[in-house]
Amino acid sequence: MSERFPMPMPFGWFCIGYGDELAPGEVRNVHYFGRDMVLFRTASGKLGLTVPACPHLGAHLGFGGTVQGESLRCPFHHWQYDTQGVITDIPYASRIPPKWEGKPCLQTFPVCEKNEVIWAWYHPEGAAPDHEVIELDEMSDPEWTERQRFEWTFGSCPQEIAENGVDVAHFKYVHDMEAVPEGETTYERHVRRSRVSGIRKVSDVDGNEYELESTVAVVQNGAGQKWVRFTGFMEYLLQVLVTPIDDERVEVRFMYLHRHYAQDSFEFQGLQAAIENTNGQKGLEGDMPIWHNKFHLRNPVLCDGDGPIMRFRKYFAQFYVGGPYPGEDGVPARLEEAS
Ligand code: FES
Ligand SMILES: [Fe+2]
Repeated sequence: MSERFPMPMPFGWFCIGYGDELAPGEVRNVHYFGRDMVLFRTASGKLGLTVPACPHLGAHLGFGGTVQGESLRCPFHHWQYDTQGVITDIPYASRIPPKWEGKPCLQTFPVCEKNEVIWAWYHPEGAAPDHEVIELDEMSDPEWTERQRFEWTFGSCPQEIAENGVDVAHFKYVHDMEAVPEGETTYERHVRRSRVSGIRKVSDVDGNEYELESTVAVVQNGAGQKWVRFTGFMEYLLQVLVTPIDDERVEVRFMYLHRHYAQDSFEFQGLQAAIENTNGQKGLEGDMPIWHNKFHLRNPVLCDGDGPIMRFRKYFAQFYVGGPYPGEDGVPARLEEAS
């Protein structure tokens, strides 16, 4: 565990890449959740995510391992495993060791592909997923053809970044934004939804400012899936993909999705300005140096102008086995009481 964050890594579905980055037949080493893993895609397109060590004699499957049809083949003695880790072939054995026939022998992790993202389920104790990644309608809408993707790596953890949205006071000081109007928020088990409508100041590429009506709806589904839907004078969707690399570092990906607009249209320019704002000082890059260096305080000193920070922490506490703070049993009373 990091010294800056008393919480362990939360469990959940986390982005470990985009689907189009891994072609059928490809094998790739990935490092997330403080562990090395091997990701591969079979000839038919199925994904497998495994520990790196071959259970036979320990060769690293990510260095020289190859996809053979629906299996991953170890470079050392050519044992093959399917996406569930079941041995499918040992070229020089008369039979597969009976103990392992039809059973997972190579350890694998749950992995799925939705919204053009490859998601891995992380759980510190290996528990199976207790919820699914939610599919977004726009991803399969033939009109929503455009994607823009951005990526950052820095020192932080998923909860710190997620908490930023309810920290209403910082918008003025970090992002130079007007006061954020109170929206409606609902919490339903692992899903948090919030919705804010109001007038938004937008500047175009020439610096002209406009005041336009817009609605921002944010959904957090577990610790690792979040998206923001902007509607009103222009519409776009942002997948906010935050993945712990280890206890100290995160990879943040922003994937924007929108309709096609002509380059010189007002919509396109407004959209580009909004994307630049959301990536830049008015958004992620404004927060980044603070996140990169800050501490997570279990007992922050708060004032009446702060947002519902403790309520958000109570929500997020459910994604830690045994509660967020080791040494404090379960969810601390001060969080349970937060409303
Ligand atoms: S170590 Fe992998 S097949 Fe022998
Ligand atoms: Fe922020």
